[in-house]
Amino acid sequence: MVSLTIDRKKLKAAEGDTVLEAATKAGVEIPHLCHHDGIDPYGACRLCTVEITQNGQTRLQAACTCQVTEGMEVRTDSARVVKGRQIILELLLARCPDVKSIQNYARQWGVRKIRFQTKQKDDCILCGLCVRACEEVIGAEALGFSGRGVTRKIDTVAFGIHPESCIGCGLCTYVCPTGKVQMENKTANRLRQAVGTERTCRYMLMGLVSSKTCPENIQCWQCPYDQFFEMTGGTHPALLSQPALAKTTLEIGPFTLSLDRSYTANHVWARGIADLVKIGVDDFLCTLLGPVDNINVTEDKIFLTSRKRKVTLSLGVKGELIKINPDVMSVPRLVNYSPYHRGWLALLRPDEAWQSRLISGGDASQWLREEVNRLTELGGLPDGKVSLPSTQQKWSMVRRMFFEKKNKTINTIPSGP
Ligand code: SF4
Ligand code: SF4
Ligand code: FES
Repeated sequence: MVSLTIDRKKLKAAEGDTVLEAATKAGVEIPHLCHHDGIDPYGACRLCTVEITQNGQTRLQAACTCQVTEGMEVRTDSARVVKGRQIILELLLARCPDVKSIQNYARQWGVRKIRFQTKQKDDCILCGLCVRACEEVIGAEALGFSGRGVTRKIDTVAFGIHPESCIGCGLCTYVCPTGKVQMENKTANRLRQAVGTERTCRYMLMGLVSSKTCPENIQCWQCPYDQFFEMTGGTHPALLSQPALAKTTLEIGPFTLSLDRSYTANHVWARGIADLVKIGVDDFLCTLLGPVDNINVTEDKIFLTSRKRKVTLSLGVKGELIKINPDVMSVPRLVNYSPYHRGWLALLRPDEAWQSRLISGGDASQWLREEVNRLTELGGLPDGKVSLPSTQQKWSMVRRMFFEKKNKTINTIPSGP
């Protein structure tokens, strides 16, 4: 436990809690829009900004992304905080004048007029909560951002795909702070027209359900079981079961293996989405390469640079390059921060069946274990912690051994446990 003060009140909070979590547990309200329990915080809307004093320094910080520390002093209602909050609300209202949650906050925090004007009026604050929920909790990856600057928006065709991967779970609608995203209705309509087909249970708890036998005509929100789940758990059932998180990751040494992806032996991952394949690199590579500062992707190669280190990787999947992730092109370090999610690199339309050529499931965990053992033998994991290759010579050896192998795909690994 750590001791801190919030609005001069002394309290204790669990280590690892964010300031927002500690304040909520202590009954102190901090306004927020882009945060939802059970989904990793991202700090997009800045409405939860508070004043934090630590080691004699005072700064404004987002409460949803800042962790509590011993002796921290938090002010949630100082004049500086309130003024900043009012400006944020003015900006949000200028963009989303019709959104009730923003109007309510504006009223509560004394915003009387809007001094800003935007041409782009919309009900979406671009907080990305729906994208994160769909990707991190459900694993469907049906939503994404498209466009840049004033044309940026939430899109089901963001990656050049159609929203077939949406299972209609409704989590995006549930967490959206503005009510903008309505995928559940759209998907239910689509499923109803596909007569006689089966759909994935929207919580992915009950497997495939035949539309013929559904007494609610695939309107899950009217289903008594659905209501029961929500009332008992106090939140959307998908957040209770966390289907994607539960099934998709395995810790091997200090690295994470994402089990819903296939790998090449040189640490590139691939994941099928509808008829396309998303490509990225794993955290083993990101960690040993260090902070990525330049990226290039072609139809068959990925080029990554970190300070003076370079690596050229074969893609492992042949096909037409549909899109390079614009977010990593503007912020290459996203590859390090989020190698399996926001730091994906490219989207391809594959020429051929690609999955059988890559490593997945038990083979993937066995392969990564062997890679970790080889790295340990090389002295790259003293005390289980990663030590970066200290010289160019050592880096060249690591690069050749792990990332630029001749056999780019593994067919030879026997099935793992
Ligand atoms: S309703 Fe569709 S888009 Fe929304 S979270 Fe569920 S799967 Fe993703
Ligand atoms: S649709 Fe809703 S959850 Fe998604 S980015 Fe916009 S405001 Fe956020
Ligand atoms: S809730 Fe913290 S930045 Fe949005």
